[in-house]
Amino acid sequence: MRQQYDLWIGGEWRQAKRYEPLTSPYSGETLTQIAQASPAEAELAIETAHEAFAAYGLMPAFRRSQILYRVADIIDRRREELAALAALEAAKPLKAARAEIARTIETYRFAAEAAKSITGEQVAMDAAEGGQGRMGFTLRTPIGVVTAITPFNFPFNLVAHKVGPALAAGNAIVLKPAEQTPLSALALADMFSEAGLPSGVLNIVTGAGAELGEILTAHPLVKKVSFTGSHTVGEIIQRQAGLRRTTLELGSNAALIVDKGTDIEPIIDRCVAGAFGYNGQVCISLQRILVHASLYSRFTELFAAAASRLVVGSPLEENTDITSLISAKAANRIADWVDEAVAAGASIVTGGRRSTEQGNSIYEPTVLRDVPRFAKVWTEEVFGPVAVLASFENLDEAIREVNASRYGLMAGVYTPDLNSAFKAARQLEAGGVVINDIPTFRVDQMPYGGVKDSGKGTEGVAYAVQEMTQLKLIAFNLG
Ligand code: SIN
Repeated sequence: MRQQYDLWIGGEWRQAKRYEPLTSPYSGETLTQIAQASPAEAELAIETAHEAFAAYGLMPAFRRSQILYRVADIIDRRREELAALAALEAAKPLKAARAEIARTIETYRFAAEAAKSITGEQVAMDAAEGGQGRMGFTLRTPIGVVTAITPFNFPFNLVAHKVGPALAAGNAIVLKPAEQTPLSALALADMFSEAGLPSGVLNIVTGAGAELGEILTAHPLVKKVSFTGSHTVGEIIQRQAGLRRTTLELGSNAALIVDKGTDIEPIIDRCVAGAFGYNGQVCISLQRILVHASLYSRFTELFAAAASRLVVGSPLEENTDITSLISAKAANRIADWVDEAVAAGASIVTGGRRSTEQGNSIYEPTVLRDVPRFAKVWTEEVFGPVAVLASFENLDEAIREVNASRYGLMAGVYTPDLNSAFKAARQLEAGGVVINDIPTFRVDQMPYGGVKDSGKGTEGVAYAVQEMTQLKLIAFNLG
């Protein structure tokens, strides 16, 4: 690891005016120094991207595709080293980090395929009287400079979900990764150079702060902002972006319905993985589990027992499931929310305290029941290792409960009954409904995006390419 990481602008490393230490969330040790881009440095990155776009926007699709395939191959070759980097800076358990790298490779390969599949369509101009003697078709053209503001929880793959489609579409990009995970993003600089991406098409500015954010969302040369993160920041970005295009992926408090007749034993491990994978720091983490009254006490017993068997330890160890949250501040907030729920009448089935394992940032996998519906662990996004259980008598009631949330990203339903499955699929208010699996399900080509306060726009590589291109009509007057 270098002692200092600069800004990546115009295909070269540029010293910044200011640096901040980056610390490991698990050990607390200082890993390196990270450039903190000033608004002027961010502006330079945007102008550089704009200049590079002039040529890149005209690069043939097969060449853009080759670059993306090459990057996927480079990541594949370096997969162990990159997984270790995510484990180090994001405290992502090694096995979860490896799974993320495998997905990242696929995401860039989907982007490489998408680059070759950007098409328009014929428009039946003469379907209208005034269109007689005309021929029309549509093109999809690149839009220019895209800015990407990405979160810490998938420091490779959620970056890939923005960088991949932007480059596939022929756009230039300025990436600002989460302040906690700059190294994973900066690793892309050398990899894209090696893959042959022209200088200035990908620029990476690290740092934090409202001023930096505002330049990236409101600069006149920025044509689109793609953001994944909190609802609070998403609202600010939307205000600052004005009429510009935005994709906002803002998280949720994802729910699962376990309907009557479900065989629960085989689904317990899957539910535990959904609730506690990467300490619950996933936008579609399984947070609320509504179980039919006939199954509730058995489900509670099995689920809590499996949660308490999870291995707490260092992210760099092979068998670790649970480790430090991204910061002590996050652990404090989660502890406060659990305490608030308990004070209001919730019961702790398992967990409910910090682990003494390391530092102060590990919170034990926690299962709560009898949670009042106004408690934050029910209404808000916990983004931590906390799952809340509730029972229901009939499916309509469960669907109403799930829909009462202000969020709606993904929802899951286990049911042996086809009619119930269709009913839930149609009535649940979410961007995606998963039947017979947990809501914490994503493969990288599928459409992914929320309703309500979970955001707007759709990711999933080909869908993101649509949102990063302009539909343009070409009309011929045939005389
Ligand atoms: C997210 O946390 O927003 C993404 C989840 C995933 O890609 O699996």
